[in-house]
Amino acid sequence: MMDSQQLLCKINDYLAALDYPAEPRLLYRPVEYALEAGGKRLRPVFVLMSYGLFAEDYERALPCAAAIEVFHNFTLLHDDIMDNAPLRRGRPTVWNRWGENVAILSGDAMIISSYSLLAQAPAALLPRVMECFNRVAMQVCEGQQYDMDFESRQTVEESEYINMIALKTSVLFEGAIEIGAILGGADRRNINRLREFALEFGLAFQLQDDLLDSYGDSRLGKSVGGDILEGKKTYLMISALNAATPEERTLLGSLHRDESLSADEKIARTLEIFNRYEVKRKTEEEINRRFAKALAALAEVDADPEALAGLKAFVEGLMGRDK
Ligand code: IPE
Ligand code: IPE
Ligand code: MG
Ligand code: MG
Ligand code: MG
Repeated sequence: MMDSQQLLCKINDYLAALDYPAEPRLLYRPVEYALEAGGKRLRPVFVLMSYGLFAEDYERALPCAAAIEVFHNFTLLHDDIMDNAPLRRGRPTVWNRWGENVAILSGDAMIISSYSLLAQAPAALLPRVMECFNRVAMQVCEGQQYDMDFESRQTVEESEYINMIALKTSVLFEGAIEIGAILGGADRRNINRLREFALEFGLAFQLQDDLLDSYGDSRLGKSVGGDILEGKKTYLMISALNAATPEERTLLGSLHRDESLSADEKIARTLEIFNRYEVKRKTEEEINRRFAKALAALAEVDADPEALAGLKAFVEGLMGRDK
């Protein structure tokens, strides 16, 4: 059995060996730029760790693990255009460096690349892997559309928000875990428990992402306050809107559009209201609740105990992350 660090090395080596053509440079260079920037590589590690619960020969699962990571990076290229985000992993985003058209097309190339990698799954399992991947990929698009729809809405129910982040974020973790388990030969019952685990983990993960967007620092590698400036209905914003007075609610809905304020002022004034209603603490509590549910589902999985303990330790290490 390999630990998460060894698996990460395997994935990094595999991704580094992907050979994209040199020309056209503005199609492929941004693909390499995105993939070489690292990131946490959580989703491919999940594929391999899930696989490792039921099997040993990790090489078989590597192309699918890479496919998920390339797909994830594609979503980031387009997400950064949609979110008007200038910075990712401490570097200019692809649209910011090369323009939106380049980010759109390089993103498209990455989806195609992810399907090529996925097609390398063992032939007998390919239909199931493909069904899972297609389902997940479409759900991510649905989640991203809800995320944008909510920007222009005054209020969003907490349940609508949870559904939105389940789609935009959790399902890709679910897909990673499910594909790893399919390749490893897991039975239906284990797959369902693992999916439940990944769903709750993904919710905790996106809640933490929302928290860091408002309360993180430069270690995040993204520009802090971006969600506030875009009018995102994050868990923090929804909690604040629910607790605020009618006047504060109007302010929360309009500050980010107030042209008389600098970006820093918009962020500071919004955070003032967030702090007044302790939304940071409320978000942390929700993260802990979701995380506990994830671990409870994981405890029900019937697999190699050592590999299971490795997966549990890996996700526990992600709690309280600052990047
Ligand atoms: C960012 O994902 C997008 C979200 C779903 C929040 P990660 O935080 O996993 O990004 P990288 O790949 O580590 O940079
Ligand atoms: C990202 O949500 C979800 C996807 C990319 C599908 P965010 O927009 O919050 O992710 P970051 O914060 O830009 O990484
Ligand atoms: Mg974003
Ligand atoms: Mg987004
Ligand atoms: Mg975010």
